Amino acid sequence: MIQRLKEDIRKLLKERKAIMLSHNYQRDEIQEMADLCGDSLGLSMAAAKTDAKVIVFCGVHFMAESASILSPDKTVILPRMDAGCPMADMITPEKLLREKERYPGVPVVTYVNSTAEVKALSDICCTSANAVSVVRSLPQERVLFVPDMNLAHYVSRFVDKEVIPYRGFCPTHHLLRPEEVLEWKERYPDALFVCHPECRPEVVDLADHVCSTSGMYSFAKETKAKRIIVGTEMGILYRLRKENPDKEFILPSQSLICPNMKLTTLEDVLEALEKMENVVYVPEGVREPAKKALDRMLSIPRD
Ligand code: 13P
Ligand code: SF4
Repeated sequence: MIQRLKEDIRKLLKERKAIMLSHNYQRDEIQEMADLCGDSLGLSMAAAKTDAKVIVFCGVHFMAESASILSPDKTVILPRMDAGCPMADMITPEKLLREKERYPGVPVVTYVNSTAEVKALSDICCTSANAVSVVRSLPQERVLFVPDMNLAHYVSRFVDKEVIPYRGFCPTHHLLRPEEVLEWKERYPDALFVCHPECRPEVVDLADHVCSTSGMYSFAKETKAKRIIVGTEMGILYRLRKENPDKEFILPSQSLICPNMKLTTLEDVLEALEKMENVVYVPEGVREPAKKALDRMLSIPRD
């Protein structure tokens, strides 16, 4: 049954000249099937470069929007239109305009976990993989950082600038508590703790390494530690375990699951490819300024 489903998807991907991209938090079977898995930065770069006609984006809405902004000549399909990002929805264009009025002349750095309309009002975008470099690249002494206050706090540790945070957060990462990490550290004193910068500062304080989802794959491969406590969404475990069978990966909290990232199933991918209906399109008036902010980010080397 599942084999048949995969064959049908493969056949349609070929027929439609489509590429299937998956974020590192997607269900195991989606990651396994995808042509490319990655973090937000890697997937944006792949979307900008591919010569496929269609991009099937297994992730959440803002990611498909970014793909469409960077590749306007391609059809970008989001298998589940209801896969959103609560953090992205915490800032609207109206709210951002109010912030800009409060801080005239201060450049706006926008985490890619945001809508196209918000990106369009921003000076530059960033991802968790390049946020520090992006903020450093700006000549100003102060930046307004939206929407993730935890990532803003993390960046402020590394730059000689004032990073003014907006009060958004990722409900999944924000739920991880330092006590939960400490409990596991006590149980396994030999274990290292790696976490995503979307975690709250008290959790980041406990980390041996802080990085984007893709950064975690490199860290897991390179470290000599045999046990790693992982402070990010559980989807990351699939590849971590597959690529490092000799190491143990521990999820410190059962709350590390993003319901939106888990919506997409293989059945949804097949249906999306059959119907070609769930097209994510960004109107030109929004696309152009949003692309400027994304292009500016893509011109900066990774941290
Ligand atoms: P990265 O994969 O860029 O680290 O992003 C994490 C995330 O929360 C995406 O929704
Ligand atoms: Fe949004 Fe957090 Fe889910 Fe990523 S993990 S899509 S930031 S809610």
